[in-house]
Amino acid sequence: MLDLLARTPRGTEDVLPKKSRIWRYIEEQLADIFGLFGYQEIRTPMFEETELFQRGIGETTDIVEKEMYTFVDRGGRSLTLRPEGTAPVVRAYLQHKLYGEPQPIKVYYIGPMFRYERPQAGRSRQFHQFGAEALGTQDPATDAEMIAIPAELLRRLGLDNLQVEINSIGCPQCRSEYRTYLIDVLEPKADDLCADCRRRLTRNPLRVLDCKDEACNRAKVGLRPILDFLCSECKEHFDAVQEYLQLLDIPHVINHNLVRGFDYYTKTVFEIVYSGLGAQSAIAGGGRYDGLIEEAGGPSVPAVGFAAGMERLILTLEDRGWEPPDTGGTAVYVAGTSATRKAVVDLAFRLRRAGIAAEMDYLDRSLRAQMKAANRLNAVWTVIIGEDELEQGLAVVRHMESGRQEEVVLADMEGWLKEQLPTAGCQGAEE
Ligand code: HAM
Repeated sequence: MLDLLARTPRGTEDVLPKKSRIWRYIEEQLADIFGLFGYQEIRTPMFEETELFQRGIGETTDIVEKEMYTFVDRGGRSLTLRPEGTAPVVRAYLQHKLYGEPQPIKVYYIGPMFRYERPQAGRSRQFHQFGAEALGTQDPATDAEMIAIPAELLRRLGLDNLQVEINSIGCPQCRSEYRTYLIDVLEPKADDLCADCRRRLTRNPLRVLDCKDEACNRAKVGLRPILDFLCSECKEHFDAVQEYLQLLDIPHVINHNLVRGFDYYTKTVFEIVYSGLGAQSAIAGGGRYDGLIEEAGGPSVPAVGFAAGMERLILTLEDRGWEPPDTGGTAVYVAGTSATRKAVVDLAFRLRRAGIAAEMDYLDRSLRAQMKAANRLNAVWTVIIGEDELEQGLAVVRHMESGRQEEVVLADMEGWLKEQLPTAGCQGAEE
């Protein structure tokens, strides 16, 4: 029993403090970048009505067919832990009539998503996405923006040489011509396709394109790309997206097999990939979904978005040996004896209230052991409150790096330390 309780459920993980520092750093960068690009945060519930995802993502997609965490609640409603963030954002857009506000609505989100997938490196059952959606515009500049935002984050993290792959899957009209073409060409070769693709061939033939199976790859040799079938509007849009990417200096390649596993996409689709991740190489993915809002019962409003996987991004950073900048820790360690305990606790709290990161002993340790702890925590200063000094209202202040010591009036300690530390709460790495 115990060992079961001492393990996270399959496909989930704890983010321990060391890794949490990386998360926090990325989240801070994201808040900054999204702000610069004019996106505001939206937070939607962790679960939604099951039908939202069935209709939004599409009945024949892998996610809806086999990956959703669906349950019936005590009131008999079918609910699903969100497998992605786009359908919930569209739901919120309709529910709160955001289409009545000045357009476009530009929102971003960061949070956990849930998919019942076979766990492997870079693929888990609870994972975290950050993403953005721009609703109410068909400007191809927003398609480029959805690539530029993750690209800017990657640039800041030193990962600017990842591959950007793009494609266009057209609108329902040109896509249906391509579907017919695919079925005509692939049907005679159906026996060569994998079981999944044989099934997909009639229901969702575009998905055959992104199957990685060797036999399917052979059957696909010589297929015409969907770009050959685009109508003039879709073609112009795709050309414009590419021009904007060039303008923004974002290198990209066209991947004719990129179709993405959601039914809601129209026109532009893209992924940012890192080959060092093995099979789960996509760090980010997204595209335009001009028909989804109408299909969900709203007005005809075009939209585009992207989402990236936090865990995959962090795996990539780890693969590259990246470390977050050291934000330090404790600025001041307050040490004392059992006789001066109250003064220690009082000073530590006063310092924290004054915005100075302070630590103290909680294990009744000797003064020597407390000094060691101060060293381990990289404290810049240690305040030692001894009995004799306390009687005179003083404490000894020791600069840890130089060993320099002096006596300071206890009542003035916050002010004195603030003068010494370059920025208050400056977490201690440097003086
Ligand atoms: P997606 O490609 O399914 O797109 O997910 C985006 C990213 O989430 C992936 O590139 C990957 O990094 C990460 N991810 C997906 N599944 C897992 C998993 N099982 N474990 C770890 N990471 C995973 C979407 O979700 C769309 N909603 C993106 C979008 C937004 N399109 C338009 N707007």
